[in-house]
Amino acid sequence: MENILELKNIVKSFDDKKIHQGLTFTLKHGETIGLLGRSGTGKSVLLRSIIGLEQIDSGEILFHEQRLDLLTEQQLYPVRTRISYSFQNAALFDSISVFENLAYPLFEHTNLAEAEVEKRVMEALQMVDLTESRDLMPSDLSGGMQKRIGMARAMILNPEILLFDEPTAGLDPVNIEMVIETIEKFKAQGISGILVTHDISTAKRVCDRILILNEGKIGFTGTVDEFEGSDDPFVKSFLL
Ligand SMILES: Nc1ncnc2c1ncn2[C@@H]1O[C@H](COP(=O)(O)OP(=O)(O)OP(=O)(O)O)[C@@H](O)[C@H]1O
Ligand SMILES: [Mg+2]
Repeated sequence: MENILELKNIVKSFDDKKIHQGLTFTLKHGETIGLLGRSGTGKSVLLRSIIGLEQIDSGEILFHEQRLDLLTEQQLYPVRTRISYSFQNAALFDSISVFENLAYPLFEHTNLAEAEVEKRVMEALQMVDLTESRDLMPSDLSGGMQKRIGMARAMILNPEILLFDEPTAGLDPVNIEMVIETIEKFKAQGISGILVTHDISTAKRVCDRILILNEGKIGFTGTVDEFEGSDDPFVKSFLL
């Protein structure tokens, strides 16, 4: 499989606090990587670094061979339609409806006619099983529904890569199941993904490969089977 995203020797500190101390891995086309690690190991910072919301100190981030870490804010703008980031909180606009939240990126980044926008928004809502919520305000939705709308918005521009930051955190089992099914639909469309999570059962279900951050380095990388079968006490501590 072709590499879609390549990270080479990523180093990142905040003042004298070292976060990443040389991370190297690749994401292949159509693959979903589960990114695990204790709280504060820099999982969210890594996702933000990929789309240039954080500046890395050294290393290379390649998207289809293009160096993302060298791009200006303006050059990153179109990249963020192709690599979409689903935030740890849903980050919806509170003052506009669900429909308008989903239509916004389409009006912002495309020249689609209104009828086509409506069609795309309804398709996205269908993906997360929330078509009947189109005219509600974000405050009318449960936390789980807000997360699902956030996921629908993340895929509205047909991205090639989706970065999910803890999509199941704080959700009840029904909403967790719906989030998993949504991720499976993205996968079926050939979208690649990096899923940051503390939810091991979700990671095992939707990920092809597991990567664990530990003290600034990659503490483990392997398939889900290798992850589950590992004898390494460090890896096993995540399976408990
Ligand atoms: N803008 C920032 N300035 C200074 N320190 C930061 C900044 N953003 C993150 N950090 C620090 O970097 C470290 C890694 O943060 P990050 O949010 O990536 O952790 P995480 O692995 O996502 O944790 P969690 O599982 O709790 O979400 C933390 O110690 C955090 O305090
Ligand atoms: Mg985080």
